[in-house]
Amino acid sequence: MVRGICAAFLRTSILLLLGATPVFGKYNKRDTWERNAVIGCAFQLSSKVPWDYQNDACTEFYCSVCSYDAAFGSLAVCVYDSLNSMGNNEGNKTFDKSWVHVQNMCIKFNGDFGNLSLDYYHEQLDLSYTIVRQNYSLENSPKVDFPVELNPEITLNLVNAYHKYFHNMDDSNFFVYFYYIYLFLIFFLASIGNYLTHINKELSIRKYTQWYRMQAYFTKCLWKGYHTSYYNFMGKFFIGLFPSKLETSIVTNYAVLNGILLAICYKYDSTNSLFSSKPQQVLRLLADRSGILAFGNLPIIFLFGTRNNILMWLTGFSLSTFIALHKWIGRIMIINSLIHSVSYLAYSILTGSFDFWNMELYYKCGIAAIFLLIIMFFLSLGYMRNHYYEIFLYTHIALAIGFMMACWKHVENLGWKNWLIISVSLWIFERFARIVCLLLNGGPLSSRLQLFENHQNTDDILIRVTIKKGNTTMTPKPGQFFFVYFMHPMIFWQSHPFTVIEEGDGDSIIIVLKPKHGASRVLYNSLVKAGGTLDMKLALEGPYGHSAPIKHADHVVLLAAGTGIPGPLYHAMSASLPLSDSPTNSIDLNIIVRNINILNAFRKELFYLHDRNVNIKIFLTRYKANKRANSIATERSSLVSKHFDIDQLKSLAKVYFTRPDLRSILKENIEPHMKTAIVTCGAPEFVDSLRDIISTEISSNPSSLIDYYEEFQRW
Ligand SMILES: Cc1cc2nc3c(=O)[nH]c(=O)nc-3n(C[C@H](O)[C@H](O)[C@H](O)COP(=O)(O)OP(=O)(O)OC[C@H]3O[C@@H](n4cnc5c(N)ncnc54)[C@H](O)[C@@H]3O)c2cc1C
Ligand SMILES: NC(=O)c1ccc[n+]([C@@H]2O[C@H](COP(=O)([O-])OP(=O)(O)OC[C@H]3O[C@@H](n4cnc5c(N)ncnc54)[C@H](OP(=O)(O)O)[C@@H]3O)[C@@H](O)[C@H]2O)c1
Ligand SMILES: *[C@@H]1O[C@H](CO)[C@@H](O)[C@H](O)[C@H]1NC(C)=O
Ligand SMILES: *[C@@H]1O[C@H](CO)[C@@H](O)[C@H](O)[C@H]1NC(C)=O
Ligand SMILES: *[C@@H]1O[C@H](CO)[C@@H](O)[C@H](O)[C@H]1NC(C)=O
Ligand SMILES: *[C@@H]1O[C@H](CO)[C@@H](O)[C@H](O)[C@H]1NC(C)=O
Repeated sequence: MVRGICAAFLRTSILLLLGATPVFGKYNKRDTWERNAVIGCAFQLSSKVPWDYQNDACTEFYCSVCSYDAAFGSLAVCVYDSLNSMGNNEGNKTFDKSWVHVQNMCIKFNGDFGNLSLDYYHEQLDLSYTIVRQNYSLENSPKVDFPVELNPEITLNLVNAYHKYFHNMDDSNFFVYFYYIYLFLIFFLASIGNYLTHINKELSIRKYTQWYRMQAYFTKCLWKGYHTSYYNFMGKFFIGLFPSKLETSIVTNYAVLNGILLAICYKYDSTNSLFSSKPQQVLRLLADRSGILAFGNLPIIFLFGTRNNILMWLTGFSLSTFIALHKWIGRIMIINSLIHSVSYLAYSILTGSFDFWNMELYYKCGIAAIFLLIIMFFLSLGYMRNHYYEIFLYTHIALAIGFMMACWKHVENLGWKNWLIISVSLWIFERFARIVCLLLNGGPLSSRLQLFENHQNTDDILIRVTIKKGNTTMTPKPGQFFFVYFMHPMIFWQSHPFTVIEEGDGDSIIIVLKPKHGASRVLYNSLVKAGGTLDMKLALEGPYGHSAPIKHADHVVLLAAGTGIPGPLYHAMSASLPLSDSPTNSIDLNIIVRNINILNAFRKELFYLHDRNVNIKIFLTRYKANKRANSIATERSSLVSKHFDIDQLKSLAKVYFTRPDLRSILKENIEPHMKTAIVTCGAPEFVDSLRDIISTEISSNPSSLIDYYEEFQRW
């Protein structure tokens, strides 16, 4: 109950935060005639006219137009005349609106502007209007102490140039929304599909559309049967994961959208009034556009990198799908940032304002940000993630913090900080949700670790963790996983994802894990030292992930290979009924392991399934018969007596001594007009090859309804 309310609260908060994003992402229009006129006139009058004005307290660019009456009068006349000659000032409305911009500009140099009113502006305009020297030529005039109006044509060109420059900023700000609109449409459709699947109402859509073609397309691996297994690009250092076709489609369209947004709607000023050449204009406009678009991506990237992402729950997309989107949208953002940096650098070299030794702070921070981003990119490549996951994780976080700080300083006085604020709020909120989630699960829970090992084959080591549930610990559904914090002095800060099984009466949660090289190896070493069993506190964050809605299917095929057994096994346990109630077997559980010893860790669960309507097939791919040692196994383990021998196994299941023929297993369970749910988890190569097989089965059985749920995840 408490859990439910809390989960609802968290979801609502995240939804509200997402809803607030467009509001907070709102931008103020920069390209208005009153603003352009004020900026254009002020710039021109400040840069061209040698005013007879000296003030040691104020040496900034706009001091004279804000403090010197002759200059201020000239400004008022300039703005008034420019607006009128553009036919933009009916009833003085636009001129009156320009007052705010004059105030905003001047208040920094002259505090009086806080007190002055629009009447003052009009007074100054009227006073100066009668005495202003029109089309004043600045040649041989050392000091000017009267209101002047410069060549009106040049003034108008400049105002127009500002219009084009700010127009690009407005467009860029507006274009950011297209990313959000695009993703909203995708997630909206996915959410509806997900909802219909869960209430078993998607059947009518499937019947009347070419749904199966789309399914077959999206199921197939993108490239040479690689999706969850790492692909070697060059040597063993350049490894990476191929996104699934679904992820690829989303990202490709996003990239195309990004390209369009970078390319369209530029307006150039043919008079080159503001920038001295067309190349300079192109560079500057592109730099602004790409920089703004890069910033607009940040909230998306931050959200998609988190575990508590409400979109995951709505759409049914897995965490690894969102991580893939996080990566690829991140890379698109890096490209935008590189375009921004390179074009801005080229621009400042062209204008001659690039001075390496005297860079302004914002410029330095921009450079720092792009370097941090590039380092972050390299440190998050497949090799780092696969071999040094923890190092990848900490450097990723540290670099992200550095990047955000550099970005903040970069735009502190320019704008666009809202994107940074939204991103960081999402991040902080998500961390907070994790802590809430940990505490709600009961904080530290007691658990018992047991070692299952086999001296004949050091690959066959498993650790079974039995966790005693607290009163408020969430009940996981089959296929869900927790992030587990083992309270071991060397690894307590780490959290690793593990699929869970809840035991019969709901008192305990089981994890079976395979020691790898990091945290799980630390556990293994402690366990060996302790003699095979060890009590340890641990904390659970979750449950995360979806539970495949298999209950609507006529046939259920569960395929588990290697360490992927827990998910499918738990599905079998929870979806099956005692044979006495339901004598026909509708659930097909296929377990593929190298050796019989691996199954010792799942002994209790396999026996639980013994008289239930589950058809168990076990494939031992590297079984060596007549090896007595195999069945005796470890002396260290306290469970010596609880080891399977092959005859016992045969009483529970059909046992084969080869790799399974996956295609025929599927064919047996696919019938026209029947719904087949396939759930799989296991070794990456296995899962990937299965993906392609299922894709061909879907396209060759158009009248059958085939749902494929892949529970194996890698990022
Ligand atoms: C959804 C999910 C469910 C899983 N269920 C199980 C399970 O039931 N049983 C089981 O044995 N294993 C499971 N794993 C794998 C398990 O999470 C990793 O083996 C474990 O994190 C390795 O820890 P390590 O520090 O010893 O790994 P390392 O030796 O450092 O790395 C081994 C591999 O695990 C990956 N890895 C390490 N830490 C993480 C992390 N925090 N998140 C994602 N990947 C990581 C690395 O990229 C590397 O490929 C599951 C993984 C996921 C994503
Ligand atoms: N030392 C090594 O070189 C090496 C290599 C791989 C794994 N390992 C170790 O073994 C551990 C166990 O790995 P794991 O449990 O994740 O998986 P796994 O043992 O590699 O595979 C699990 C089972 O799936 C089978 N399988 C794999 N691909 C298949 C396919 N395309 N079609 C049908 N069956 C397929 C395997 O058969 P087969 O026995 O016929 O492959 C095996 O029985 C790994 O974590 C690793 O530590 C070691
Ligand atoms: C606009 O303002 C100017 C200056 O105050 C004034 O002279 C003029 O009459 C006004 N025009 C209208 C249409 O109000
Ligand atoms: C603004 O007006 C108030 C009262 O008229 C005066 O006290 C204050 O000094 C003025 N501020 C400035 C900056 O002139
Ligand atoms: C302003 O003066 C320049 C020469 O200084 C002249 O070419 C131009 O036509 C004048 N413009 C107007 C509107 O009088
Ligand atoms: C949890 O449940 C146990 C027994 O069911 C009870 O003794 C204990 O007080 C409960 N703890 C809390 C915090 O409710």
